[in-house]
Amino acid sequence: MYDVYGVIGYPVKHSLSPVIHNLGFKLLGLKSVYGTFEVSPENFEQAVIGIKALGIQGLSVTVPYKERIMKYLDEIYKTSSEIGAVNTVVVEEGRLLGFNTDWIGVLKAFEENGISLKGKQVVVIGAGGAAKAVVYAVKEAGAKEIVIYNRTYQKAVELAQKFGGVPKPWDELNKAEGEIIIQTTSVGLNSKESVVGPEVLLRFKVAMDLVYSPLKTTFLTYAEEKGCKVIDGLQMLFYQGIEQLRLWTKKSLSQESLSIIQKELYAEVQRRQA
Ligand code: ATR
Repeated sequence: MYDVYGVIGYPVKHSLSPVIHNLGFKLLGLKSVYGTFEVSPENFEQAVIGIKALGIQGLSVTVPYKERIMKYLDEIYKTSSEIGAVNTVVVEEGRLLGFNTDWIGVLKAFEENGISLKGKQVVVIGAGGAAKAVVYAVKEAGAKEIVIYNRTYQKAVELAQKFGGVPKPWDELNKAEGEIIIQTTSVGLNSKESVVGPEVLLRFKVAMDLVYSPLKTTFLTYAEEKGCKVIDGLQMLFYQGIEQLRLWTKKSLSQESLSIIQKELYAEVQRRQA
């Protein structure tokens, strides 16, 4: 008898999460499988009701359901309600428990690259779902100042108010300055676009992009050219997934297993982008 896990989203067929979790289960010696549940918005409620009936043990939740799932859960952990999004469901004794591991993924990505956010001036581009977890993480890590630029200014204002950041208008993005810049919008996804030019990245020491297709976005290429240390989008995906595995299995992977999964994740992306 296999335990069943999966990711619920729409669209979700190309998710990389099965690579992380199926290999993770194998390395932990567990008889568990992880699949993709592509559920259209009109079927979402039925699908969530079915989680318990089908005996599913846990879910990753992705776009566009990270907020919508919240009202169906039996318990939501404090961090997830503060962020306003759930990306992980743990099924325990028939109860659906909601967590957010995205912000942990952000912190781990910085930590593993040996970069401290404490006391730093951080610029966040975007104010959508991903940006919420980023701003929460950056604040938790003790950043000195968080400046938020977003195309829709009102959303930057709301996010800044919630976590104590400074909103700035989109047309002033080319004046951005600080130490660390984090790109959370979908600009650059499967394209050569960049939200900012190289002259902006020249003013920063570290640049992170949450977009991982292509792995080296134009934003990160500019950043590297201008001497920034760069953190690609796969790193957050990897670490938030590893935290999900820990929540589901209550087991930790060895350093060697983590390296195997990370290598496979990068190899899979290279294969897909070839
Ligand atoms: P996610 O969960 O991936 O963050 P989201 O909540 O839909 O997705 O947020 C998308 C983010 O990308 C938003 O900050 C959005 O800006 P708006 O709030 O103005 O919509 C930003 N975004 C998407 N396309 C963009 C574009 N072409 N230029 C600038 N920002 C863009």
